[in-house]
Amino acid sequence: MALRETLSEHEPEICAVAGLLAERGWAEANSGNLSLRLGGSFDPAGERFPLSIPRPELEGHSLLLTTGGSRMRDLAENPLENLCLVKVVDVGRAYVSEGTRGEVTSELPSHLAVHAVLVKERPDHHALLHTHPTFLIALTHLVKDRAELRDTLIRMFPEAALLLHENLEILDYRTPGSDELGVATAEAIRRVSGVVWRGHGMLASGANLYSALDLVEVADKAARIALLLGDRSKECGLSDDQLKGIYEAFGD
Ligand code: 13P
Ligand code: ZN
Repeated sequence: MALRETLSEHEPEICAVAGLLAERGWAEANSGNLSLRLGGSFDPAGERFPLSIPRPELEGHSLLLTTGGSRMRDLAENPLENLCLVKVVDVGRAYVSEGTRGEVTSELPSHLAVHAVLVKERPDHHALLHTHPTFLIALTHLVKDRAELRDTLIRMFPEAALLLHENLEILDYRTPGSDELGVATAEAIRRVSGVVWRGHGMLASGANLYSALDLVEVADKAARIALLLGDRSKECGLSDDQLKGIYEAFGD
């Protein structure tokens, strides 16, 4: 069984990160999903499904993805029953999926669109994580200007300045699971590794799931501090000079 074969290498990372997402309170019910683009090529023993947007860049690539409706707390305990192995076939016009329970996540359009960009432009980024960070979602409802929201977040503390500066974009609300959300997210991922979905959550890419999680943790903590500061978050944030000092000391 190809799914079981792929799991041995990735199970510890997937289970640990799924557990952390549940612990953080970002994975209520079936919220969130994740995927890993695998190094080797595997042949899922399952059904074939058409893709509404062809992804020729991913032809022959295999991915591990959470199943639709799966819970992170269950994934942490039982990865085999909450994951699917997907292979893109037919020059990107279809995929074959193997899962012991249920079909692939409803956010497949975003996962495939983003992996199609990463495989060419940032091939070391194999992992994608989508989750519902509480404070970040709250702040996206309050601050409607995207530039202002981003600026507020990066001024909350030095790690936010370092990890999110020129590495975070905010998208306006789109229907979950839609091709439109996938296309907009993939466009943003060309420039950044963290994409905020206003009124919904965040998607992050990384070399592995842990580094994708780092971005979400920092963004949610920055949002939490901004909410604690309320109307004063603008005047209280790190100044231009303080940001400059951080980038001089720790930037690339
Ligand atoms: P799935 O259970 O289909 O992965 O959906 C969860 C989610 O967060 C949708 O945005
Ligand atoms: Zn979601």
